[in-house]
Amino acid sequence: MKKQLLSTVALAAILMLSACSETTTANSPKNEKNTTVKYVQNAEIQAKGMKQIKGLIGDVKPALMGALKSDKTGIGGMEMCSTSAQEMGKKYNASLPEGSKIRRTALKYRNPNNKPDATDVLVMTKLKADNSFDKLLVVDMGDNYRVYKALPTHKPCLVCHGETKSMSSSMLETIKAKYPNDLAVDFKEDDFRGVIVSTINK
Ligand code: HEC
Repeated sequence: MKKQLLSTVALAAILMLSACSETTTANSPKNEKNTTVKYVQNAEIQAKGMKQIKGLIGDVKPALMGALKSDKTGIGGMEMCSTSAQEMGKKYNASLPEGSKIRRTALKYRNPNNKPDATDVLVMTKLKADNSFDKLLVVDMGDNYRVYKALPTHKPCLVCHGETKSMSSSMLETIKAKYPNDLAVDFKEDDFRGVIVSTINK
């Protein structure tokens, strides 16, 4: 039983990094009017994007594991996600080559800083329709590339993104206080939750 709980926590931590990466510099208004997306096959860019995504995960994971372990209600994880993890995301981005950055976005988002731009919406609509979480999509944006990695909703994500009717009142209050316009609830296991996007300069 204890073992199972621990592995659930470990899974949550591994997957949640996604929940905890950089958020603030999300949108690039010049893409706002895009109506098509130029997908490209580029193994080199894809590998670079994956490396950045994994690098961030390596930074955030230990801290998040700690937060989840010490507070099983998930409230500690919430704090972690909305403050220290963002700082870590910023630091990580600062360590990347100029023009490179990582962010997360979603169709139904929690933090307004994570609001998707037009390209993000088109890519996510496709990923959601394909219902495929494995492949990475590379998009040629003209000045740079974007590598999109889809994030499925795993069981541990439901603590903070699941059905509101099954959430604790303290969790609901915490969410409401920090994110009054939250859209990121009522997901079910295996639903498409959002993406991590790695931007790489040409
Ligand atoms: C402990 C609570 C918690 C758990 C568990 C959690 N998240 Fe989140 N998630 C948050 C918070 C808080 C934010 C908003 C962070 C911010 O302010 O940038 C967020 C944001 C996100 C975002 C960015 C887009 C948005 O909605 O703002 C994605 C994508 C995301 N979470 C995916 C996941 C996935 C996938 C899982 C499970 C693997 C997960 N989350 C588990 C709390 C959580």
